[in-house]
Amino acid sequence: MRLERPIAAPRLILQSLDESAATGPYRAWMLDSEVLRFLEARHAKHDAQSLSAFIRSANDSKDSLLLGMFERAAGRHIGNIKLGPIDWPNRRGEVGLMIGERTCWGRGYAREAIGAMADYAFDTLRLHKLTAGYLEPNVASGRAFEAVGFVVEARYARHFLLDGAWVSGVRIACFAPSARDRSTPSPPADTAPMSSGMPPG
Ligand SMILES: CC(C)(COP(=O)(O)OP(=O)(O)OC[C@H]1O[C@@H](n2cnc3c(N)ncnc32)[C@H](O)[C@@H]1OP(=O)(O)O)[C@@H](O)C(=O)NCCC(=O)NCCS
Repeated sequence: MRLERPIAAPRLILQSLDESAATGPYRAWMLDSEVLRFLEARHAKHDAQSLSAFIRSANDSKDSLLLGMFERAAGRHIGNIKLGPIDWPNRRGEVGLMIGERTCWGRGYAREAIGAMADYAFDTLRLHKLTAGYLEPNVASGRAFEAVGFVVEARYARHFLLDGAWVSGVRIACFAPSARDRSTPSPPADTAPMSSGMPPG
């Protein structure tokens, strides 16, 4: 899915990425072991070609919305946030994000981006539930989601191998405010799903 109109948050703009983003700062983030530390993406090798395919796959998909996070003031691309896969029959979607510019950590951008994506998911896409997961030592991730209203649904003990040690995984979720949780699912009018494309990345 692609957004026709960007989502505006107080300090951020969330907008669909062109494949050209694969040769910008995004590429450097995917080589930064600190950024990748708590992400499963750390197990794979990334280059401009694979990132471009990932962007294309999300843009062409009917169940995945990949957005770049841009600072409103400077227009700088600082990270990505993804809603997907979306399970349309069950009106549920998974949220994941990465702020690649490390100088932007700790400024509340994650909670702002998650909040804006959650509003879009509930108000425009009419989803009923958002899910996410993080490695337990990733305290900042847990706190950012918690600030938006996510609560813990499950904890998977010693589920991931991180730096040679077993760590737990935490599954969290957030429900649509009940007044908004009302309509049948349909892809939104302001997105443009495309018919052909790659399998999900
Ligand atoms: C994890 C991540 C999304 C957090 O983003 P962020 O914009 O720095 O988070 P925020 O500024 O909204 O901070 C969230 C909270 O975590 C706290 N925090 C930030 N860094 C922390 C750290 N290293 N240890 C403990 N708490 C931390 C903040 O103080 C804030 O707490 P508060 O709610 O009490 O004010 C970001 O660091 C990131 O993208 N990291 C790389 C990829 C990644 O791990 N993605 C998440 C995968 S689930």
